[in-house]
Amino acid sequence: MILVTGATGTIGSHVARLLTERGVPFRAMSRRRRPGGVRADFDDPASLARAVADVDAVFLVTVPPVPSAEHDIALIAAARAAGVRRIVKLSAIGSGERFEGTTVGAWHVAAEEAIEASGLGWTMLRPPSFASNLLWHRALIRAGEPVPNLAGDSRQAVVDPRDVAAVAVAALTDGAHEGRRYDLTGPTPLTFADQVAILGGVLGRRIGIADVDGLDRLPAGVATGVRWARSGAAAYVTDHVPRVLGRPAGTFERWARDHREAFTAPG
Ligand SMILES: NC(=O)c1ccc[n+]([C@@H]2O[C@H](COP(=O)([O-])OP(=O)(O)OC[C@H]3O[C@@H](n4cnc5c(N)ncnc54)[C@H](OP(=O)(O)O)[C@@H]3O)[C@@H](O)[C@H]2O)c1
Repeated sequence: MILVTGATGTIGSHVARLLTERGVPFRAMSRRRRPGGVRADFDDPASLARAVADVDAVFLVTVPPVPSAEHDIALIAAARAAGVRRIVKLSAIGSGERFEGTTVGAWHVAAEEAIEASGLGWTMLRPPSFASNLLWHRALIRAGEPVPNLAGDSRQAVVDPRDVAAVAVAALTDGAHEGRRYDLTGPTPLTFADQVAILGGVLGRRIGIADVDGLDRLPAGVATGVRWARSGAAAYVTDHVPRVLGRPAGTFERWARDHREAFTAPG
């Protein structure tokens, strides 16, 4: 039995879909009551204990309101008490790098360290920006408004969230990935303007960009990672997706073509 946390989110929903397609038994965790799912909250230890009962492996996605490892640590405690054997954690590229006197992704690093110290089997997934982040701006794009660019001219090999989920499923179901950290990049470093131009090509119209300099509205721990990526440090490609999946990583253009309707349909 696999517990999929973040099962209503970007990566977790694809993990749940892939496990369903493969007939692997799993429990989808959400704070909301959903058919076939388990209702639990990282801030409610009793609900976590119910969620991990009789579970072998956990896909761990945390998005705490304040960047901290508290949610990961709560899940680790529940998992150890329940005899869970393996945790696959969704972390982020660059976590642990030193930049401008601080640590990039410090909360992910603290969580990774807690998992390593737990004695459980683990795999860490460290993707760069998801191709799907452009969906955050779909209302602006539908309205013909410019989309905000926090990345300046920096490049990242943005990854298709379906590839991140496919690697997660491999790591959840096959012990060969234990003890590994995967930097799950896409095939090509792209600027934000490149991504917007590719999406514009798919939609058949130009999409404007509004450059954002100040990162004041981001939580401090998140802003460090954005500044680090903005410095160009995240502009690299790895072969980790092809190595695990035995096929090339998906391109941004393919993701954009597959999600064309999300940017054109009303609503
Ligand atoms: N976006 C990127 O470009 C990017 C890049 C690299 C790494 N990451 C990492 O990816 C992670 C986010 O993954 P995602 O984008 O797939 O998530 P997401 O779409 O933001 O979804 C968040 C999920 O967390 C659940 N959740 C939130 N608070 C919870 C709580 N207190 N208890 C239980 N569940 C809770 C939500 O479920 P309910 O609302 O249904 O309860 C939802 O399923 C973050 O750790 C981020 O650092 C993101």
